[in-house]
Amino acid sequence: MRLKRSLYIGELNKNFIDREVIVSGWVLRRRDHGGVIFIDLRDKTGLLQVVFEEGIDPQIHDLADSIRIEYVISVKGKIRKRPPGMENPKIPTGDIELVASDVEILNTSKTPPFPLDEDISEVSEAIRLKYRYLEMRTLDGLKPFVFRHKVNQTIREFLNSQGFLEIETPYLTKSTPEGARDYLVPSRLYPGKFYALPQSPQLFKQILMVAGVDKYYQIVRCFRDEDLRADRQPEFTQLDMEMSFVEEKDVMQMVEELIAYLFEKTLGITLRTPFPVFSYETALRDYGTDRPDIRFDMKLKDISSIAKETSFKVFRSALDSGGIVKGLKAPSHFSRKELDDLTKFAQELGAKGLAWIKYTKTAASFEEKWSSPIVKFFEKSALEKLEEIFDTSDEKATFFFVADKEDIANLVLSELRKHLAQNLGLISEKTYSFVWIVDFPLFEWDDEEDRWISMHHPFTHPKEEDIEFLETDPAKVKSKAYDLVLNGIEIGGGSIRIHRRELQERIFKLLKITPEEAEEKFGFLLTALEYGAPPHGGIAFGLDRLIMLMLGKKSIREVIAFPKTQRAQCLLTGAPAEVKIEQILELHLLPGWEKKKEKS
Ligand code: AMO
Ligand code: AMP
Repeated sequence: MRLKRSLYIGELNKNFIDREVIVSGWVLRRRDHGGVIFIDLRDKTGLLQVVFEEGIDPQIHDLADSIRIEYVISVKGKIRKRPPGMENPKIPTGDIELVASDVEILNTSKTPPFPLDEDISEVSEAIRLKYRYLEMRTLDGLKPFVFRHKVNQTIREFLNSQGFLEIETPYLTKSTPEGARDYLVPSRLYPGKFYALPQSPQLFKQILMVAGVDKYYQIVRCFRDEDLRADRQPEFTQLDMEMSFVEEKDVMQMVEELIAYLFEKTLGITLRTPFPVFSYETALRDYGTDRPDIRFDMKLKDISSIAKETSFKVFRSALDSGGIVKGLKAPSHFSRKELDDLTKFAQELGAKGLAWIKYTKTAASFEEKWSSPIVKFFEKSALEKLEEIFDTSDEKATFFFVADKEDIANLVLSELRKHLAQNLGLISEKTYSFVWIVDFPLFEWDDEEDRWISMHHPFTHPKEEDIEFLETDPAKVKSKAYDLVLNGIEIGGGSIRIHRRELQERIFKLLKITPEEAEEKFGFLLTALEYGAPPHGGIAFGLDRLIMLMLGKKSIREVIAFPKTQRAQCLLTGAPAEVKIEQILELHLLPGWEKKKEKS
């Protein structure tokens, strides 16, 4: 390199006028104005206009003439004030330019598959992911990653100041159950044996507490082979934490301080703490989900007792078969077509239908307030009760009802609630609404497996007062677990752990894990618990999700440098890919091959 960069473009300003500098970067645009060549040069810090004037050395002019977009160049020259009227207030260097005296072409570039100087949100994601490096090279392309870097730094700064130790745990390990399928790595040295990539460092961080670490954290990759969505990747990053000698409130308070510090430092936003705390039961009752978006109200109401008084068959039969009638109120009227679409929306989520009643507060008479094909099944007293249960301060409203099993009614109405709020513009995008969900049941019944399964993971401590019901009434047992939800998305979850072997064994037994299986899978944990494990608990955050929400992005793919598609492929590298037969043989993945080799 003949022309060695003397500074970044972002460092330039009017103080550099008449000074000679060398800048390096990529050519964003190039214009030829009758012999005068203009180049917009970009590096990671900004954009600078470079001018090759007519009087320049003809050799240099010829070189400049051959430059095309995205070529990599170094330019030497003097900074000068732009002529009046030629300023560009849109960029920080808009009132200066570089008058080139020399240029070096460091590399050429093919024409990019999409223009890098325009809004590329219209370019298909498949193309953008294949050429991720070009997307990142655009003017704002690095922003999410600069922000992410700042978030990581700030988290470390805070936790270090609180006495946490950052300790790395293995990636080639044994299965760590978090409810997903494992990614397995075959062992070459031990035929037929496999490592599993960790779904989380759960067991290692607990063992670190037994080791006396007291406060641990790690910004760590986790691997889960599960169905993907906008907020799920097969490998994702957790901020993982664990603390000894703590109760739920200690972990929750530490987390609130951390999140408040993070938002203040990276976004300049002062959050109000403590965050609201809902019990699992309340969340389901009022929002139909344990991940409520509380940026808007529109709470669900159980109207079973009113439904019982109506003659509407749909309601009566749902109640008769042990179901429930629940509803919500949207502050608007809807057209017939919109109501049909909403009904379809509900049906796609599993509802049998969607009943609605249109309400007009200041109608001429009580009867005229209500309009719906089903209103004839309601007595006046039932309608009066509806008015009481729902806040009817809006002039126009529509009630929606779902009659079904409780979990279906909850699912459908919670999704309908979000859908309506979005369509009616009830969500303020700049708001960050955190809420803790606590008092989860320890177990949930799994019909398919015909056994109780852990709602969080098997290492979660039951509430002390419920331990006596473990064997007699498992459904009643609540856990010392807590989830943190931000704007309707679960960003973190954790719990106080079991730190005594006997209790851990009781839980395994309840989960129908035999002592042999427990020993085989978690023996190392059970052993460690016997050597003075302190009471401990912790939490893990989905860091990708948190950063996505902080930046107001729609998908975690936008804040991961090289993400996988919804089909778990990396379009940049082409992973997963086929491998050579030799590698497969070496890993003992073809059964019977060992014997064949011995014979030959
Ligand atoms: P959990 O399984 O709840 O808990 O995971 C913690 C957080 O990680 C995020 N997350 C994901 N993010 C992106 N893609 C995924 N596939 C994905 N799966 C989970 C979520 C979630 O809240 N060991 C426990 C934590 C503990 O008990 O301390 C655990 O992993 O935001
Ligand atoms: P039907 O009696 O099937 O004509 O339904 C009358 C109205 O009730 C329609 O608007 C349906 O969408 C609605 N409906 C049907 N089943 C349910 C249900 N389980 N919950 C709520 N509304 C329903």
